[in-house]
Amino acid sequence: MSKNPNKFFVTTPIYYVNDVPHIGHAYTTIAADVIARYKRSEGYDVFFLTGTDEHGQKVQQAARDLGVEPQAHVDKLHERFKELWVRFNTSHNDFIRTTEERHKQVVRAILQDLFACGQIYKDSYEGWYCTPCERFWTEKDLLEGHCPECKRAVTQIEESNYFFKMGQYGKWLEEHIRTHERFILPASRRNEVLGFLARPLGDLCISRPKARLPWGIPLPFDEEYVTYVWFDALINYISIHGHLKDIHASGYWPADYHLVGKDILTTHSVYWPTMLKASGLEPPTTIFAHGWWTVNGQKMSKSLRNVVEPNHLIDRFGVDAIRYFLMREVPFGMDGDFSHKALIGRINSDLANNLGNLLNRTLNMIDRYHDGCIPAPVEPQKNDKLKCEFLETVPQIHELYRELAYNKILERIWKLVDTANKWIDSNAPWNLVKTEEGKQELASVMYNTAESLRAIAILIYPFMPATGEKIMQQLGIQTPIEQQGIGSILTWNGTPPGTRINPGPQLFPRIEDKEAEKILASVQSAASAPADTAPADTAAATTEGVPEEKDLISIEDFMKIDLRTGKIVEAEKVKKSKKLVQLKVDIGNGEVRQVLAGIATAYEPAQLVGRTIILVANLKPAKLMGIESQGMVLAGSENDRIVLAGFDQTLAEGVRIK
Ligand code: MSP
Repeated sequence: MSKNPNKFFVTTPIYYVNDVPHIGHAYTTIAADVIARYKRSEGYDVFFLTGTDEHGQKVQQAARDLGVEPQAHVDKLHERFKELWVRFNTSHNDFIRTTEERHKQVVRAILQDLFACGQIYKDSYEGWYCTPCERFWTEKDLLEGHCPECKRAVTQIEESNYFFKMGQYGKWLEEHIRTHERFILPASRRNEVLGFLARPLGDLCISRPKARLPWGIPLPFDEEYVTYVWFDALINYISIHGHLKDIHASGYWPADYHLVGKDILTTHSVYWPTMLKASGLEPPTTIFAHGWWTVNGQKMSKSLRNVVEPNHLIDRFGVDAIRYFLMREVPFGMDGDFSHKALIGRINSDLANNLGNLLNRTLNMIDRYHDGCIPAPVEPQKNDKLKCEFLETVPQIHELYRELAYNKILERIWKLVDTANKWIDSNAPWNLVKTEEGKQELASVMYNTAESLRAIAILIYPFMPATGEKIMQQLGIQTPIEQQGIGSILTWNGTPPGTRINPGPQLFPRIEDKEAEKILASVQSAASAPADTAPADTAAATTEGVPEEKDLISIEDFMKIDLRTGKIVEAEKVKKSKKLVQLKVDIGNGEVRQVLAGIATAYEPAQLVGRTIILVANLKPAKLMGIESQGMVLAGSENDRIVLAGFDQTLAEGVRIK
């Protein structure tokens, strides 16, 4: 059986389980959620898939550093992604993990089939290997002797491995790309891949010797080897539907959209289609490569302390504001820059002023002029300009969805919000209510305004599901929003006359200038704060890998750090902060330091008083949430657990630690 035309399948990449989820990851998942929700509202049977990539060198190394089994490690880590998607209200139908049996079985079955029909062969390999990227490179691929992708050092390697005959599909793939305009989007990315294919396509090494890397799926035909992570990971898109025969029967294949970041376009548009071709499956319909987010113009990186932690953003601004911002700010496919200032600007203008105001004034007027019940329009209606604009916009939005032009879709929806606000102004209900004749027209004006809000709720629902629901609730409309499909806008009579409205709290309270200044200042100081107080990753000790030679420091360097014992004499939580505790630390000779530490999630203030800690005493003071911190407390963190560094015997205050 081939693709069922009523079925729609969209995927995100499966995220490396080791990474701390950040807005870059959230971006892809939210984008997939938007199209999934939209397609459901059009009546499609949608399957939206996300998950985690759990094998490979980095996971093995991290587990080893922690002294735990890799399986236990990934069982714990994958939860961070799962939990984040719950917070972001994403409507995925399944969450695949590459360590699950259902996935491993399909990978092994595919490998076995390919091996049996001579598509996989063994050969010895000599060349360069980049451990962080887990990829082989030829001499000419290297950039000044470094990995062309991550720019880190590569190691020379010589070993026997298994290879997939990818090279033989080069011409076919090129032809497929040329004849299927929508296979790689946006078009500029398509040219990039064609450029890549201009050079002869080599075969793909799909194994790693178990002796070097045991954490992977063993090859079914040679247990001394495990499967290369990318070969393993890409199969997630089909293993979810079962074995090859079940994939056909599911009716979901080929996938309609694989959404990926531009960094993983080659693996998706070269490795993946050739793997599918060799297995007798069709390539996906569209691979859409989106751009990358930077933060205030810089690449997000742990060492720069600028990783935008989505949980913090949600706590502060709410889920829908973040979803809206990410989809509205930058055309999908282009790179974008994240800044709190731009986010606050969008919240205040688009969400609080335009949308929030439309809902508030509509509900106020229905309350005042019609005793809180949406009136029936008087037929025939004199002026249906508002309705016409909505009906014209729906097909335009449909077209824009085909290109995943999310920012343009939101622009069009906000144009409708604007039109509805202007429609109220031009009809001036406050004047109509003054005369008997005017009151007739007033009923039509208010009905149409309510109906336009219902339509706006349906249109924004894929982007801001909770906000769409809230608008429906406040309008008093009982039918669940997901049952009011996009098509119901076209009937323009979905709001039952006589519905009693149910006004509630403001959708998006305005962030006043003073508050905005405070937020911006705290973001700035956190970015330049000492490690234990920065919000992104709190503790000083992390589970990162072994430093490279160039990163080693001399004893003189180390001695520059004035580490001292200190006794905590006072401790209290910092108001409005979940992580920070304000400490008074006695460091001897009558000196008491005020120090902020990001340990509130791990310790109650009462547990801290009387403890001897290690303080970095010569750290430049920094202000956090307006409070000065005169030092840094040492602590270790293992995933979400924070443990203060201390001693197994007592020491007086102010003792130098070396
Ligand atoms: N595990 C592989 C994907 C295997 S799919 C069969 C992987 N994982 S990842 O966690 O590193 O990246 C997942 C996605 O997050 C990619 O699409 C990547 O582009 C995206 N992003 C990671 N950082 C990003 C930004 N700063 N901005 C936007 N997206 C970014 O690659």
